[in-house]
This record gives sequence, structure tokens and C-alpha cells, in this order.
Amino acid sequence: MISTIILSDKEEKVLKNYLEEQVEFRVLAETDDSDKIYDAVKELSSAVLFVNLDFIEEDFHFISSLTDRYKDLRIIAYTQTPSVDLMIKTLRAGASALLSVPFLKSEFDTAIDKVKNELLHKQKEKSKCRIITVFSNKGGIGKTSVASNLALELAKITREDVALVDLNFQLGDVTTFWDLKPTFDLTYMVNNPEKLNKDFLLNTLERYKNTSLHILADPPYFKGADNISSKQILGLLGALKSAFSYVVIDTSAGFDDKTMTAVRNSDLTLLVTVANLPALRNTQRCLELFEAEIQDKDSVQVIVNRYMENDEITIEDMEKLLTRHIFDKVPNNYFTMMSAINKGVPVSEINKDSNVAKAYKALALRVSDFVYRLK
Ligand SMILES: Nc1ncnc2c1ncn2[C@@H]1O[C@H](COP(=O)(O)OP(=O)(O)OP(=O)(O)O)[C@@H](O)[C@H]1O
Ligand SMILES: [Mg+2]
Repeated sequence: MISTIILSDKEEKVLKNYLEEQVEFRVLAETDDSDKIYDAVKELSSAVLFVNLDFIEEDFHFISSLTDRYKDLRIIAYTQTPSVDLMIKTLRAGASALLSVPFLKSEFDTAIDKVKNELLHKQKEKSKCRIITVFSNKGGIGKTSVASNLALELAKITREDVALVDLNFQLGDVTTFWDLKPTFDLTYMVNNPEKLNKDFLLNTLERYKNTSLHILADPPYFKGADNISSKQILGLLGALKSAFSYVVIDTSAGFDDKTMTAVRNSDLTLLVTVANLPALRNTQRCLELFEAEIQDKDSVQVIVNRYMENDEITIEDMEKLLTRHIFDKVPNNYFTMMSAINKGVPVSEINKDSNVAKAYKALALRVSDFVYRLK
């Protein structure tokens, strides 16, 4: 969450409306007292300040003294009389952008995206936790299988606390995969944000046997799920970050707000596909969409599920089609996968020497190393 302050002598309704659409931003204060800004910013780890340049009478010294002093502060100035000269002076003083009034949505979006990316990136660097989202825009492709088994293998390999979160609200199936009857589900968590501290999370999230894997299940009733907002998901992810080393998110097959919130806030998104043309075309579209949203191309990687050596479409074909390296593959093994689901246990418990169990372990090793090398 990025705290935002507005410095102006009048109420900036349009600006506030635009900011309300941004889940990552929260307007903390509106003030016409520039002296108060120093004290407010001092208390914040990162912040964005909107400055009415006409009101401060183009006091560039004020802007540069703030940006010099607070490295994680971004300033967006705005004026009714924009000019190239003013733009140069504003940017030289260290502001991130100069907007013209009346505000243009496109100008606002460009400026806000720039500061958002910079600040969220910094926040991520400070946190030890890595968030991994498993996604596909097609149903039944193996998201839950990958997310569940990857989360367990990560916990086993690293021995660190791993959370598996089911964001698949309509047809959530993580609980079925693990044969669990959770006492606390996601609805409870997001409706009680004040309780979400490290101790509470580690103690209440269902633990899988004696491993360090903790499972946060899907809400049992659809009704509650509909009311969960992206903002609440963001709050939940923030809390999970403080308690776990890895958070693995299972998603539903669509680009809804909650899924996109997870993707935008993940260190790594694993896009699951299979070796057939319709699935690959979908993956292609999905990559295009994600790449427009995400700064670091490496933070989205493709996994081929149900892979068979003698498939008509080879890995090379897929790489050519997607113009991307395939991150990893999980072999097709219907029998082992089905017995695991039917018994409600991970595949390694059905047969740890099976090709799928080995593949999930290798995937976890690769992921645990890769996420720490990402920018
Ligand atoms: N590597 C595999 N080999 C064989 N079958 C698999 C493999 N991975 C998954 N399956 C099977 O595919 C089916 C769908 O898997 P899964 O539930 O993980 O998909 P999903 O993408 O989560 O589906 P949904 O969109 O419904 O959430 C399951 O019956 C599972 O057993
Ligand atoms: Mg699923």
C-alpha cells in the first residue's frame, strides 16, 4: 500500500477519484500546509506527494529539498499553465512528472504507473517473502495440481514457512486436493484484517501434517466470496508476506480483478499450458496481456503440464510459437495424479519415485532459486 498526500489550497476531487481506482494507493492526507509535509513523509516508508505547483508558486526548492532527503518519496506536480520550461524545471527538481490541469486520465495513468512500479519494486526488495501465482486462462489445465505440489515441495526443500492460498472462489478445490476441513477460510481472514499478524497466521492456517506448509482455503460459501475486493486481497497478501517465506497462489481460469491483483503483486507468475494448439493460443494471448501489465518479463514463466516425449507439438515448437523459453515441464501421469486427488494427498505420497513427483520437486528447486535472482 502506498500512502498518498495532496498539497493544495483546494479540494482536488478529480485527482481523488482517479486515486480511488488505484488499489495500491491510499490518500492519507490533504493539506495546504507545506511545513506539515516533512513530518508526514518522515513517518512513511514510501509515499507519493501530489503538489499543486500554482499553489506553492513554483517553489522548486521545496520539491528538491524533499526528493533529496527522502529517497522513497515520489512527487507528482500539476499546474494550470503547463509549458516545456516548467516541465524541465519540475523534473530537474526531482519530481517524477508534471501533469496539466484539468487532469487527463491518460497523463495521470502514465505518471502513477511509473511511481507505482518504482515504489512497489522497492517494497518487494525489502521483503524476504516471495509470492508465486499459478495461472492459466483455461480451466482444468493443472493449476491446482501444480500450485499444491509445488507449495509442498518448496516447504520440504527450504523448510521455511510456505502458504498455499486458494483464490479460486467459484470452484475452489485446494481443500479437496488436501482432504482438509479448514477452521478458518479466506473470507474470515479478509474480514478480520486487524487479526492478521504473524502469530495468528502461522497458528491458524491449516498445516499439512508435520511440514512447514500452511493452507488457506477457499471460502465454503459463494456468497461471502463475491464481496471480497481486490483491496482486501492486497491487504491479505501484505499480511501473508510478513509471516511466510513463500506464498503460492492457486487461481481460477479468468482475468478477474482478484487474480490480476495477485499477478501484479507476484514475484513470479507461472503460466500453465498443455501441448495443444487451443491451449497454446490462449497462453499466447495471456502472455501479451501480462507483458503489458508487468515490468519485468522474467516474472512470468510458462510451464507445460501433461507433457509427453512423443507429443506431436515439441518443446521447440512451443518456444517458437510463444517466442519464449519454456521454464519447466510436468509429465503426463494420469494414474498417479488421479490416485493423489482421490486420496487427498500430494503425489509424492502416492509414489515419490514417479515422474510427476520428481518433476514437482525439480520445479520447486528451480523456483526457489529463480525467484531470488529476479530483479
Ligand atoms: N501431470 C498430469 N498428468 C495427468 N493428469 C494431470 C496432470 N496434472 C493434472 N492432471 C489432471 O487434470 C485434471 C485437472 O487438474 P487441476 O484440477 O489441477 O486443474 P485446474 O487448472 O486447477 O482446474 P480448474 O480450472 O478447474 O481449477 C485433474 O483431474 C488432474 O488429475
Ligand atoms: Mg483448480
